[in-house]
Amino acid sequence: MQRVLITGGAGFIGQNLVHAWRAARPDDRLMVLDAMTYAANLRSLEPLIADRSIQFVKGDIGDAALVRLLFDEHGFTRVAHLAAESHVDRSIVDPEAFLKTNVLGTFTLLQAALDAWRSSDLIGCARFLHVSTDEVYGSLGPGDPAFSESSPYRPNSPYAASKAASDHLVRAFVTTYDMPAMITNCSNNYGPYQHPEKLIPLMIIHAVEGKPLPIYGDGSNIRDWLHVSDHCDALMSVIERGRIGETYNIGGGNEQNNRDVVGAICDTLDDAFADDPRLAARFPSCPAAKGAACRSLIGYVTDRPGHDHRYAIDAAKLAAELGNRCSVGFEHGLRQTIRWYLDREDWWREVTSGGYKAWIDRNYGFRVAV
Ligand code: NAD
Ligand code: TYD
Repeated sequence: MQRVLITGGAGFIGQNLVHAWRAARPDDRLMVLDAMTYAANLRSLEPLIADRSIQFVKGDIGDAALVRLLFDEHGFTRVAHLAAESHVDRSIVDPEAFLKTNVLGTFTLLQAALDAWRSSDLIGCARFLHVSTDEVYGSLGPGDPAFSESSPYRPNSPYAASKAASDHLVRAFVTTYDMPAMITNCSNNYGPYQHPEKLIPLMIIHAVEGKPLPIYGDGSNIRDWLHVSDHCDALMSVIERGRIGETYNIGGGNEQNNRDVVGAICDTLDDAFADDPRLAARFPSCPAAKGAACRSLIGYVTDRPGHDHRYAIDAAKLAAELGNRCSVGFEHGLRQTIRWYLDREDWWREVTSGGYKAWIDRNYGFRVAV
C-alpha cells in the first residue's frame, strides 16, 4: 500500500489520473493537493471525496508550511506532481503565475519531499514523479526526427521555459541530493475534463454553439495527440517501475496539423447530429442542427507569437523499458471525446461561466482574420 500525493489532481490530467489510480490500485491511499485555480474542477472527484476513497486539500504547492505539514502528517511514499499553470496563451499574456507555480512551487514541493524523506526511513523507497511537457524541447522542422530524451532543451514560450526550469530543478535534486525522482515529458493530451481554453474542447464547444472556430496562423502547426488514458497508464508505470533519475518521453504516435484536427472535429459533429436528431434541439445554434457543415465556422486568425511549428515524440524508451504503448487511436479517441462533451454540457457550462468569458475576450478580441 502506498500513500500517494497527487498535486494538481483537480485539473484535466490530474482528475483522469486519480480515477485511473483508484481503479488500478484500490489499496493505495490518495490525497489530492490543488489550489483550485480557474483550471480546476472537483465535480468528478466529489463522490470519491464523499465516500473517503480520496482526501482533498485545497492549497498551494508554493505554501511551504502547508506542504511540509502534509508530508509530516501523511508520510507520502509517492508524489505525482502535476500542479502547474498549463496554458501557453495565458503564459504569453501574463507569465508571472507560471514562474511562481511551475518553478518556485515545484522547488518548494521538491524541498519538502526531500526533507521529509531524508528525516525518515522513506528515502530508500519513496518516489517523486515530475510531469512535464514536450514543449521544453522547442520546435521541430518538417523533416526533423521526433524528440528523444536526449534532445536539447530549447523552450520558446514562457510556459515552456517555466516547465524547462522545473525539469532542471528536478534533475539537479537527483544528482545533488539523490532525490528519488523521475521526469516525464509528454505531448498534447486530449480527452474528458480538459479545460475549454485548449484546442480540442474549445473547438467542440464553439462549434455546437455556432461560434467561429479560430485557427491560429495558417493551421499547419503539428501536435502529437495523446489520449489522456494512455498518458495516465504511462505515468503509473513510470512512478512504479521507472528508473530513478531517468526521463521518459510519452507520445501519442499521432501527428496531426491543426487544420486537420479542427476539420475532423467538424466532420464528427456533423455525423453525430445526423445520427441523433435530439442534438439539434439541444444545440440549435450549431450549423449541423440545420444540416449545414460545421466547417463553415472555421476562420484563420492572427498567429500566436513564437508559435512552435511541430512537436513529435519518440516514445521508444518507454515502450522498451516499461512496455507502455498507446492503445487509443486518434479517430476513436476524438469521437469518444466529442461524445463526452456533447453529453456533459452541465460540466462545460459550469467551467465556462464566470472568468472564462473574460479570457475569451482577452485572447481572441485582438486577433483579426488572416
Ligand atoms: P490543468 O491546467 O488542467 O490543471 C492544472 C491543475 O493544477 C489545476 O487543477 C490547478 O488548480 C492546479 N494548480 C495550479 N497552480 C497550483 C498551485 N500553485 N498549487 C496547487 N495546485 C495548482 O493542467 P493539465 O493539462 O492537467 O496538466 C497537468 C500537468 O501536465 C502540468 O504539469 C502540465 O504542464 C503537464 N502537461 C500537460 C499537457 C496537456 O496537453 N494537457 C501536455 C504536456 C504536459
Ligand atoms: P493548445 O491546446 O493551446 O496546446 P499547446 O499550445 O500546448 O500545443 O494548442 C494546440 C494547437 O492549437 C497549437 O498549435 C495552437 C493551436 N490553437 C489554435 O489554432 N486556436 C486556438 O484557439 C487554440 C486554443 C489553439
